[in-house]
Amino acid sequence: METRVDEIAERIYRLSTFLPAVGPSGLTFNQFLVDAEQPLLFHCGQRALFPAVSRAAARVMDLRRLRFIAFSHVEADECGALGEWLDAAPSATVTHGAIGCAIWLNDQSPRPPRALGDGEVLDLGGRRVRRLDTPHVPHCWDAGLLYEETTGTLFTSDLFTHVGDPPAVTGGDIMGPAVAAEKQFGYTGVTPATGATIRRLAGLAPRTLAVMHGSSFSGAAAPLLESLAGFYDELLQKGAAAGRG
Ligand SMILES: [Fe+2]
Ligand SMILES: [Fe+2]
Repeated sequence: METRVDEIAERIYRLSTFLPAVGPSGLTFNQFLVDAEQPLLFHCGQRALFPAVSRAAARVMDLRRLRFIAFSHVEADECGALGEWLDAAPSATVTHGAIGCAIWLNDQSPRPPRALGDGEVLDLGGRRVRRLDTPHVPHCWDAGLLYEETTGTLFTSDLFTHVGDPPAVTGGDIMGPAVAAEKQFGYTGVTPATGATIRRLAGLAPRTLAVMHGSSFSGAAAPLLESLAGFYDELLQKGAAAGRG
């Protein structure tokens, strides 16, 4: 198993492991390292991936420099290796939203977590990440995303998931492949709030989307997010119509 490293925005590194056995054509599992005075890791990866991912991260920086570990929601690929990362980075604190701390981390984390409010900014020194609560988007009550303001990078977690082992960064179409993957896996629990939650992200006008499964996107990302919101609105309407039928 090998984890590749690519800088997808200035001092933001994508650690990517391709697992060919997942789904029909394999899936990438990506963590992101934000290099700053107080570096932050977004997503831990599964425990089985930790040796490969941590080796890759160590090529970017001494892991003992890590100060924050964050993730979108409680699932193995997002936070399975949290304990291993906290061991490797003794000065790191895990951060999550208030709900995630209440329902999981306050009980399960090896070290006390730091809860971030919706919209709260963590100043990393040279990079600033803003926590955005996105309950149930892409899934799980505790879900939230981070937006790095200096580079305009939105860490999208499972939003825009697409299969295969595509390039680290693209300016091309990720919407088509993301819609295909959603239809294939049905991983988003679509609610009346899904479209509005994603439209709020479009309001940030990100310049990079750091996608957890698939290529990151570089370019004007607001139209993509608007389009994804529209797709989920349509899915909800179709579901409601089917329910009435
Ligand atoms: Fe997930
Ligand atoms: Fe994921």
